[in-house]
Amino acid sequence: MAKDFSSMEDSNTSANPDIHSVSDPQRRIWVQGGLAALAAGTLGPWLAGCATPIGALLGGPLLGFKSVPADNTDKLVVPEGYVADIIAAWGEPIGLAGNMPAFRFDGSNSAADQAVQMGMHHDGIHYYPLDGSRRGLLAMNHEYTDDGLLHTDGMKTWSAEKTRKSQAAHGVAVVEVEYQGDRWQMVRPSRYAKRHTAATPFAVQGPAAGHALMKTAADPGGRLVLGTLNNCASGKTPWGTYLSGEENFAFYFKAGDQMDAHQKRWGARKDAFYPWSETDERFDLTRHPNEFNRFGWVVEIDPMDPTATPIKRTALGRAAHEGAWVGVTKDNRAVVYSGEDARFEYIYKFISRDAISPGGARANRTLLDNGILFVARFDADGSGVWLPLVQGIGPLTAANGFADQGEVVIKSRQASDLLGATKMDRPEWLAIDQASGDVYCTLTNNSQRGGKDRPGVDAANPRANNVMGGIIRWKDDGDFDGTTFRWSHLVLAGDPANERAEAKGNIKGDIFACPDGLVLDDRGVLWIQTDAHATQMYKGELVRIGNNQMLAMDRSSGEIRRFLTAPVNCEVTGITFTPDGRTAFLNIQHPGETPSDRSDPAEPSKYSNWPDYKPGGRPRSATVVIRRRDGGVVGT
Ligand code: FEO
Ligand code: CA
Ligand code: CA
Repeated sequence: MAKDFSSMEDSNTSANPDIHSVSDPQRRIWVQGGLAALAAGTLGPWLAGCATPIGALLGGPLLGFKSVPADNTDKLVVPEGYVADIIAAWGEPIGLAGNMPAFRFDGSNSAADQAVQMGMHHDGIHYYPLDGSRRGLLAMNHEYTDDGLLHTDGMKTWSAEKTRKSQAAHGVAVVEVEYQGDRWQMVRPSRYAKRHTAATPFAVQGPAAGHALMKTAADPGGRLVLGTLNNCASGKTPWGTYLSGEENFAFYFKAGDQMDAHQKRWGARKDAFYPWSETDERFDLTRHPNEFNRFGWVVEIDPMDPTATPIKRTALGRAAHEGAWVGVTKDNRAVVYSGEDARFEYIYKFISRDAISPGGARANRTLLDNGILFVARFDADGSGVWLPLVQGIGPLTAANGFADQGEVVIKSRQASDLLGATKMDRPEWLAIDQASGDVYCTLTNNSQRGGKDRPGVDAANPRANNVMGGIIRWKDDGDFDGTTFRWSHLVLAGDPANERAEAKGNIKGDIFACPDGLVLDDRGVLWIQTDAHATQMYKGELVRIGNNQMLAMDRSSGEIRRFLTAPVNCEVTGITFTPDGRTAFLNIQHPGETPSDRSDPAEPSKYSNWPDYKPGGRPRSATVVIRRRDGGVVGT
């Protein structure tokens, strides 16, 4: 989800000190010296010791494509020798036998139609092979809706039907795709086709299941939640399931003007951005305060079994979860890393108690319910500590408001505040190098860093008014279950032509800003996708960067090369590859986003009409299928 600086969440007013205020003067000098060195083009200490010369191992350069220039036209551009096809756009029927309503470009599909069509605003995506690299499933998130585009007359005359359609356009889709002839197509009908929406039942498992704070009038047991919301990034588990993060869930709830401290800490607003509560009272927190606690989880879905109940995994902690990604320890336990995409919030990891079982999804149905959750503290000397979020340890006691582990995971922000975790600049996607142990995380931006009454810069978040973002990297000591780590910055985004030192960055290669999506492919290429908001692009310090884009990084040389530029006011998000590496599927979200995040139905294609360019039509999020014309591996 792209975020306008004026509306994004900024709820952490905890007294938890930032590194700047606890570090000694010598360390602050180190921080300043470190920033100067980075600005001068040094990639930081990790490159010397940790980079694997993957390109050399493969006998050729890692990046073989010709860079594309920055662009600000309403086109999707890929390098010479590549082709990009569009599939599975918003409103395409997913392929349920006997129920495949066609998309109507005037927004007149019903809520029932939308519930069996691709949702809006595609985000994280993964490929699950059915027949190797020729046929498989795509599981993908539909993060949010632009209700100005979703309904024929937009937000006017709000109704229960509009609430239902908006809810049906959220969630997750699973569709079957196949390479037929010379291109990929959706397989319809398919027995795998499935939509999970804001109305689908999800089981609650882990320490918050059945907790008093999870019980509502409609669900007195506190174990079954209707729906998943604002599903942003996604991870694929080694046991074959799909993990999806519930991100900006606070936008859906009307809290009124009597908010308690818990609601404030979680970004509740007097009025919701979505008017669902007008016709669906569970989104009215004045009537159903605990409904709020039932969102903000990582959900696990088995794409191979459309009959399986999806699960909210509460042991992983509640957060404005961008997504969740799994590393595997040498003794085969799962370590799940996640961040929350909000200013001054935290980075988490969960270490499973048990080893991953052979036997796929069914054999691991409780794996993510037992283990230990941690939150990260990045220290100024380049070390870091994973602080345990365990009831009864340290300050996480009943006297401090944490009566049991369920309360710790429901109030993980408050618990992290007490532990002194590091307030980050919007941690979004993570990528894990299973071989080297390196973990990467995008820090998208934070224009409030160093602002009045807001936390100052620190070593891990070293730039005031950080409009550019960057990528941080760490390696846990020992294995992925290490409780300490070493960290450094992989790259600070920016444009060296800018005057302000904090906006120059230290990119070796093509310039970009606001990194969000981050995926490591099987060859070791780090794919970086950007998400600057419509209100940020095309002006000021971002003026030369152009539309959002995707770039590829060779970590051994540090070079970053632009692979794709996207249509006007969209974000590029999610990329997944077939096992042979010859097809990449990625998502283009919210082409034509407006500064207010709501389109005018009288002028739906004011900014973009991608991908259909149909007169009188509407821009649509869609999946882009990228192949080399000669059938070679993408990126070589
Ligand atoms: Fe949904 Fe954090 O972008
Ligand atoms: Ca984003
Ligand atoms: Ca994102």
